[in-house]
Amino acid sequence: MTTAPPLAAILLAAGQGTRMKSALPKVLHPVCGLPMVSWTVQAAQAAGASRIVVVVGHGRAQVEAALRARFGDAVEFAVQSEQRGTGHAVACAMETLADFEGEVAILCGDSPLLEAGALEALRAARRAPGAGPVAVLTGELDDPTGYGRILRDAGGRVIGIREHKDATAEERTIREWNAGVYVVDAAFLRRALPNLSPRNAQRELYLTDIVEAARDEGFAVAVRWSAESVIGVNDRAQLAEVEAVMRRRIARRLGESGVTVRDPATAYVEADVTVEPDAVLEPNVTLRGRTHIGAGARIDVGCVLDDVRVAQGALLKPYTVAHRSRIGEGAQVGPFSHLRPDTDLGPETHVGNFVELKKTSMGRGSKANHLAYLGDGIVGEKVNVGAGTIFCNYDGFQKHTTVLEDGSFIGSDSQLVAPVRIGKGAYVATGTTVTRDVPDDALAVGRVKQSNKEGYASRLRAKLKATVDAADKPRDA
Ligand code: UD1
Ligand code: CA
Repeated sequence: MTTAPPLAAILLAAGQGTRMKSALPKVLHPVCGLPMVSWTVQAAQAAGASRIVVVVGHGRAQVEAALRARFGDAVEFAVQSEQRGTGHAVACAMETLADFEGEVAILCGDSPLLEAGALEALRAARRAPGAGPVAVLTGELDDPTGYGRILRDAGGRVIGIREHKDATAEERTIREWNAGVYVVDAAFLRRALPNLSPRNAQRELYLTDIVEAARDEGFAVAVRWSAESVIGVNDRAQLAEVEAVMRRRIARRLGESGVTVRDPATAYVEADVTVEPDAVLEPNVTLRGRTHIGAGARIDVGCVLDDVRVAQGALLKPYTVAHRSRIGEGAQVGPFSHLRPDTDLGPETHVGNFVELKKTSMGRGSKANHLAYLGDGIVGEKVNVGAGTIFCNYDGFQKHTTVLEDGSFIGSDSQLVAPVRIGKGAYVATGTTVTRDVPDDALAVGRVKQSNKEGYASRLRAKLKATVDAADKPRDA
């Protein structure tokens, strides 16, 4: 067994992507939460590329910034200021790789489904005895209109690639098409690129012409691959198709790692989300950003979580919406709860329907089960927050903090005007507007005393009815 030569990767991403009709460069359109070009970078990394050069042009600053943010110095950039064809783009990248010896993988920034396995297969094929300097990935389609066709001689050897626009009627009947992914010997590539000529229908330098050039050095080898992994994105319809494939791929991987994904077609799980075994994702769940779901947690129908850490055994009932929050072990949230940024729910807490929290922590075992707004709060352990409680945290200028100490009890329909503190074990009576701190173990009552007027209800009804009857009477009766 020979050891694999070093691998560099070139990603073509300078084109405009006109058919997307977008202000955003095509390669930055997200697929399952990651810009498509990032998926390609990750595939190159997984295949063992020691250097990755992205060819940028249209939307260059944006593409560079997005990739720098995620990959730092692991990606290099080559600028192609004028798009003179795929061969020219690779030539630009090779200036950056001037001293590189080994194999060069060439990929497109708009084919996010391509995986490391395809590159490994190309490398293996190129190293087979008698193989030439180029390996190219191909597929078969009933109608490969628009794609380059693979030309073979009578013996089946690959002798060239003909672009659709340059092909004869007979060549257009060829169903084997060029997926646009290659592994090429670096030295050969350096020799072949200067010989490309724009004598073709598009007046471009075609990278595909290196396949014909390889004939003199032992022929190119074609590796057939599944169409699903090589489809590219040219328009929004293909973007949706590619995303659907990626979604299923993510769901399948979760399943393999021990997560129940009830309906893979509607599991919207982004690239950087992590889920531990025995967690359950019910249909129509959306998990975004760096969300993490702990072992055995259950995320019920329709939950939308963005950068949320859910501890093990937590139960998120249907339609919980949470952003940048933490949910503790065994906690129960929902249905229809809204956790806004910096909510931190401790273990065994309960948050119920139509409860909104923002920048509020709740200690172990505390509950807010119905209809409440808790903003800028610090809630201790075993606190009960009654229905309709509101933390009045904002005076129009500043946000203020409400503190509920351990074991305190807030009766329904209370308003806590912050800054305010409710002491340990204290009671706030139902319907109280709390404006001053409540000491430990005290009862705060702030409501009008009730009085009952005996027999008043029927007298009132009679009076009201008489008014209506007088108004209904015909005037001249
Ligand atoms: C290319 C192949 C074709 C193949 C198809 C697969 C050539 C000549 N043809 O055709 O055989 O079937 O891909 O999808 O290579 N790019 C640059 N700079 C340029 C031109 C293109 O960076 O000057 C980038 C584009 O942004 C894109 C990729 O290269 O990511 C492919 O370019 P595109 O013009 O789409 O090539 P196709 O005509 O589709
Ligand atoms: Ca294309």
